[in-house]
Amino acid sequence: MYEAICKVQITDCYRNKYRNPSTQKYCGVYLPINIFSEYLTSRYEPYPKAVVLKSRFDHQNRNLIVSVNTMGQHRDRKRIGLLTSGGDCAGLNAALRAVVHRADSYGWEVFGISRATQGLMARPPEYIEFEDVSRTHELLLAGGTVLGTTNKGNPFDFPLPDGSTCDRSQDIIDGYHLLGLDALIGIGGDGSMAILRRLAQQGGLNLVGIPKTIDNDLGCTERSIGFDTAVNIATEALDRLHFTAASHSRVMILEVMGRDAGHIALNAGIAGGADIVLIPEIPYTIDNICQTIQGLKRNFATIIVAEAVCTEAGEKVTQTNRLGQCRLGGIGEYLAEQITETIGAETRVTVLGHVQRGGTPSPLDRVLATTFGVEAVDLFAAEKNDHMVSWLTRQVVHVPIAEAIAEYRAVSPQDTLVKTARGMGICLGDSTYYAVDSHIRCKTSVLSQLELSS
Ligand code: F6P
Repeated sequence: MYEAICKVQITDCYRNKYRNPSTQKYCGVYLPINIFSEYLTSRYEPYPKAVVLKSRFDHQNRNLIVSVNTMGQHRDRKRIGLLTSGGDCAGLNAALRAVVHRADSYGWEVFGISRATQGLMARPPEYIEFEDVSRTHELLLAGGTVLGTTNKGNPFDFPLPDGSTCDRSQDIIDGYHLLGLDALIGIGGDGSMAILRRLAQQGGLNLVGIPKTIDNDLGCTERSIGFDTAVNIATEALDRLHFTAASHSRVMILEVMGRDAGHIALNAGIAGGADIVLIPEIPYTIDNICQTIQGLKRNFATIIVAEAVCTEAGEKVTQTNRLGQCRLGGIGEYLAEQITETIGAETRVTVLGHVQRGGTPSPLDRVLATTFGVEAVDLFAAEKNDHMVSWLTRQVVHVPIAEAIAEYRAVSPQDTLVKTARGMGICLGDSTYYAVDSHIRCKTSVLSQLELSS
């Protein structure tokens, strides 16, 4: 026994015919099988013996949602819906490619849903079929996502043109059934993963998650797709700024993304040899920064700062456009002004922005995306729904999506890389460092303690 939910477009002719005479409302229960069996056969499923179980109209009274008993007729080929959701990043297409290849090895087909859940909301649902797996090589290299994505439009609170919102979740669930999907593989960050899981719970959908975010802040995974590429780009920017800083005797400040986590700044700061790394998880003082710059005993400095670092007074620095939309950004300029005012250093700010998200993925991101894509299909094959693939201790594993979204993975002050940065004499803003000789920089407080005890 199998129940499928299919949508039948009600034409005007059927509209009048199936209007309930007493209530004057369209009434699906009178709709005979032959009206939509042809439609199903031609469009969606070859279920000629399907029998209507129940039916209802959608909220616009235009489509009839019909549940059918397919009398044991199953499709041999499973069908996976695949979508990318939230901000784009490098490596998404490599993950799509891997899912398509692995599904093909099981003999399954993949429907790529357009623009995250919006493709399932659309009528008819918008998707592309990945048919020829041998032609997907270019997906390894391509930045962005060929499916399109969005980081707006929560379906549970969907914005309407008049400024109000409505719950479109049922439309997405219907879209899943309308396409005859057996599972949905969602590639997203914590926000997308939470929305997809809620949809899956509400509609009984089979969901498997793949983590992606340049911020690397999703719980229960050490790595998410896109992070490594973002770190590479930020490191390269720092490398370049270093030369201009030295040539012009300037303090060059690089502001990087990362939302509320400092992973990009910390990793790129170590890799690019920054003098000062500021992350939201570690409080700083302007005095510590200025003393560090002066203690360097050279005429330039490089600073990398994560976008969510607050002012010294603890306020987030944001920018609001004319539409009233507010985004993180501007902490670099704030620091530049403070440093110039305090020690008179010439400062310049580079805001790296979306350069960190686009472009060709690094080899590591390609490997991670491919590993995750293969594992996600295997998870579905093993009926491990409601799980997310994850990278932990050099292995691909899987974790309950609920656990991944319950934990926000910021940089821990005890993180190995925090220790490494301190060990390299990088100032993290909470204390002062200065050059002892040309090779070794030591922490002032440590030196003072040594001096006191000697
Ligand atoms: O979450 C990824 C991210 O790039 C953040 O680092 C950044 O704060 C945000 O998205 C930018 O979003 P948008 O693309 O909407 O400007």
